[in-house]
Amino acid sequence: MSQKTWGGRFEGGVDALTELYTESISFDRRLFRHDILGSQAQAKMLAHVNLITPAEAEAICTTLDQIGDDLEAGKIPIRTSLEDIHTHIESALIERLGDTGRKLHTGRSRNDQVVTAMKLWTRDALDRMDQLLLDVQKGFIEAAETHKEMIIPGYTHLQRAQPVLAGHYFLAYVEKFQRDRERLMDCRKRLNRLPLGAAALAGSSLPIDRRHVAKTLGFDDLAHNSLDVSSDRDFLIEYVFALSMIAIHLGGWAEEWVLWSTTEFGFLNLPDAFCTGSSIMPHKKNPDVLELMRGKTSRVISDLNRLQILLKGLPLAYNRDLQEDKPAVFDANDTVEASLIIAAAIVRKAQLKGEQIAARIEDGFLDATTLMEFLVLRGVPLRTAHEIVGKMVRLCEKRGCRLADLSHADFDSAYLGLTPEVYEVLGVSRALMAFRSEGSTAPSEVARQLDLWKVRVMA
Ligand code: ARG
Repeated sequence: MSQKTWGGRFEGGVDALTELYTESISFDRRLFRHDILGSQAQAKMLAHVNLITPAEAEAICTTLDQIGDDLEAGKIPIRTSLEDIHTHIESALIERLGDTGRKLHTGRSRNDQVVTAMKLWTRDALDRMDQLLLDVQKGFIEAAETHKEMIIPGYTHLQRAQPVLAGHYFLAYVEKFQRDRERLMDCRKRLNRLPLGAAALAGSSLPIDRRHVAKTLGFDDLAHNSLDVSSDRDFLIEYVFALSMIAIHLGGWAEEWVLWSTTEFGFLNLPDAFCTGSSIMPHKKNPDVLELMRGKTSRVISDLNRLQILLKGLPLAYNRDLQEDKPAVFDANDTVEASLIIAAAIVRKAQLKGEQIAARIEDGFLDATTLMEFLVLRGVPLRTAHEIVGKMVRLCEKRGCRLADLSHADFDSAYLGLTPEVYEVLGVSRALMAFRSEGSTAPSEVARQLDLWKVRVMA
């Protein structure tokens, strides 16, 4: 009998080049645990509907466990002639159990089997990713707590804009990571429908019980259309899209901290343990980890793109192209996983240089917008107030001073009745204290949000 699971129809063997070209074992090996889980659920169901005996199901399940351990220990030879992980496992089963092993594939096809294994793998990967994100969130919350009272410049266009509390800054990323987690959970919901039993593309004429399998494997529902199942890789695109958003968030943060750690900014001391040196310049401490985090974002985005291009224009149902989904998914997964782990470590160890930030905090008119709003509170139409403050800033620039340095006479000539209260909103810390809207950087708001996050995330 042919070694191949599909050998019967073939007269001669296939060319070695074909075997080498079509194999996926080199990259789908890592699905072995999930493939085995799917097969065990299948065997239990087959016994449940009397297509095999309970003893056969028992033997299949136990032997599959042993095969899993042997694969883990490298005791099962990997052969390109056996194509993929599914065939390796089934062949090992048949080797060990003979005819009983030959019954496992009843009522299924590799087409629904591979989607099932991928879904089970992705579901676990997604849950692990969620935990890693949670840990990064904790790191950012701890940093928010540590730097709670520090005022830093907020930027738009990388130009100084308005003051914010450092706590507010760190919590901004906590929000982004929360949306990332929500995206993962949303993807999980749609993913969690059982493919198995769709068989090759049309279902089976055997009395299989798909709901039994769904229950065993913890799927919420069945994927309802067998033709759809064999071609569905939406869940992988959704997962990798969610990963790409995480990578984009991490990459933006990394870029920010690369800048912040420059002499020019001088906001940040990156921990030595997460930097590297130069082979020629003895003084250098380079933020390579953060640069790579920024750089690796491109891998994840292109993995998403690879998957989209792979699926584009595919007719129903299964096409072998789909085998190429795995390298992209694994690469995106592993890249983001590694980035999250190191991001959590960096944020926990990094120190903002409070004194250096404070030394230049009054530069850049961070209080100008609060001054404008102060005018609005006194009945000045917003556009007029904008114009007035703009002119004051111009005056300051000419004199080389700050808004708070302007005299009573300067303010009175700009708009009558501003003094003396105007000085209460001038200067960066007073400007900061003036904030009050919900979600703003007002100290009470930041404290409230920090408390909320602590309850949500730290529990
Ligand atoms: N290794 C294949 C994949 O990953 C398994 C499915 C093969 N199905 C087939 N009809 N040749 O997609």
